[in-house]
Order: sequence, then structure tokens, then C-alpha cells
Amino acid sequence: MTASPPAASPVTWAYHDGGWTDVAAASVPVGSLAMRYALSVFEGVRMYRQHGAGGVVPFLLDAHVRRLGDSLTLTRIPDPGIARLPSLVGELARRNGFDDDVYVRVAVSAHNQGTMGADVVPVLTVTGTPMGRKRWLAGGFTGMRLQISGWQRGGPNTFPPAAKNISNYAGPRLALLAAKDGGYDNCVLLNEHGRLCEAPTAALFVVRDGELHTPALSEGVLPGITRQWVLDTARRVGVPAREGLLSRGDAYLADEAFLCGTGLEIAPVRSFDDHPCRHWPDAPVTRAFTKHFFDQVRGLDSPADPLEDVPHEASGAAQ
Ligand SMILES: Cc1ncc(COP(=O)(O)O)c(C=O)c1O
Repeated sequence: MTASPPAASPVTWAYHDGGWTDVAAASVPVGSLAMRYALSVFEGVRMYRQHGAGGVVPFLLDAHVRRLGDSLTLTRIPDPGIARLPSLVGELARRNGFDDDVYVRVAVSAHNQGTMGADVVPVLTVTGTPMGRKRWLAGGFTGMRLQISGWQRGGPNTFPPAAKNISNYAGPRLALLAAKDGGYDNCVLLNEHGRLCEAPTAALFVVRDGELHTPALSEGVLPGITRQWVLDTARRVGVPAREGLLSRGDAYLADEAFLCGTGLEIAPVRSFDDHPCRHWPDAPVTRAFTKHFFDQVRGLDSPADPLEDVPHEASGAAQ
């Protein structure tokens, strides 16, 4: 009896270098400026399954396209045509048959070889990966134990913090690994002035006396799109929210805290350096904003009461 041949694995479509290809075949050359000097800027965008809509819908895509344009300007990489992204992202979902939550990565990388001062030939890449909740929301409402890192986020005169360039992640990765070595889940980096800045891939919010506080953009944080969504939502629902200067002590005295970003969505925090947040595990403000978030991305109207309980969201977890 002859065994039947193994089923061919289905193609995962990616847009790369002007056309559609299997993601496994999309590459940049080893001698490229992207590989030699880390010349590659990117965006992470989520697409969500919405109530009553077929397929998935990108969340705040215009803001991501605008920020990608800013990253290109700041890094002096030419625009490969990012205005096409709304149609490319839609086509990515259609080709791959995405019908549940997806993380889309858009990158513009320097494809050509050359020396450091060479002109850049940019290549646009768009890929998608199914992605549900991270474990902070998938398994109920579990809180991150954060370390305040000894590593700093690079200052504005080292490299523009607003450029989402891959080089900006090498240092925060070391901070994350050190935090994990120490038994923590994640970390917050300080800026060059020793004030709270952000997590390796997410913005920080601290809640004190019913008010939200987050480091100002001038503190060297990425202009986070979820961060701005939280600030806008706070205004809409009448929760005071301030951008300012935060110290380690502000973290230790927090009633609640959360990280937010496209990948993490909203991640509740239970402690900083083993100092528990005072209102953990109730965390009513964090729960309220988590509920607002999922109401919005699922296309539901937000409730008027910002402190309503968050229902448990039980879709598949991805790390
Ligand atoms: C350094 C950094 N800060 C914050 C964020 C969160 O930003 P956003 O909400 O735009 O995803 C990210 C993720 O993109 C990031 O990489």
C-alpha cells in the first residue's frame, strides 16, 4: 500500500517588493542596507472580526500609515508608496481568508547594497499572522509583574524615538530578557533623565485617585496609537487623563496601571519591582478601558458608564 503524499501546506500570502508571494519566499538580501545598518521601519496593525461584518476590519489604519510616513521622514528612507496600504491590507486579508483577529506587519526596508551613506532603495512588505488575546486577557484578567529596568530607552539625540525603526528594539529586548531572568513578566524602561518612559513595545498608564497618567511624548516615548486612543477615550468618557513626567515613585504608589499597544492591546499590571498596585486585582479603571477597547474594535457602541465590568474575552491566545 502506498502512503498518500503529505498535504501541501497552504500558502500564506505576503505583499513584498511589488507583488504577492508566499511569505516564506519574501526576503531581503544579506548585503542590504537593512541588514547592514538596520535601515527598516515598520508598523504593527491589528485587524478585528467585527459584529455583523464579514471578514476583519483594520483598527486605526490611517494613524498607522501616518506614523509610518513620519518614520520614513525621520530615517530618510524614500516612500515606496504607502498610500496604497489600505488596499494592500484589504487584499492581504482577502487572499489569506482571514476571518478572525490578525496582526499585520508593514515594513519598509532598505533593499539595496551599499555603504552607509548610499541612497536607499525601499521595499514595502505586508504580512499577516492570526493573533488573539495575549495571556494577560486570555486567561481571565491576569496582571503583569513589571520590573523597572536598569536599561534606558535611547534619548532623542541618540535616535528619534518617534521613528519605529528596528534598531530601536535591540536595547529594549535586552531589558526584557533581563526582566525575565529576574522572574518578571515585562519591564518599563527609564529615559535618560531617570523618569518612567515605556515598555519595550507598549505605552504605560498609571492610575492614581481615579486619574490616568502617562509619560509625555517629550519623555522619549513612541507616539503610540493605542496610547492616543486611551487619551481620547478618557476625554470622551470623562476620566481625567494627563501626559507628564512620571518617576519610579509614581509607579510604586499606583492604584492601578496598564500597558497598551497594538500587539499587547491592554495588559493589566499587578506590581512594579514587587510593589503591588493598590487596587489590584479589582483595577476598575483598567477593566473599564479594556471593555471600551473591545467594544470599539468589535464595532459596538461604548457604554456610558466607564467603570462597568469587563466581560471575559475568550478568543485564542497568542504570545
Ligand atoms: C516602543 C513602543 N512603544 C509603544 C508601542 C505601542 O504603540 P501602538 O499603540 O501604536 O502600537 C509600541 C508598539 O508599536 C512600541 O514599539
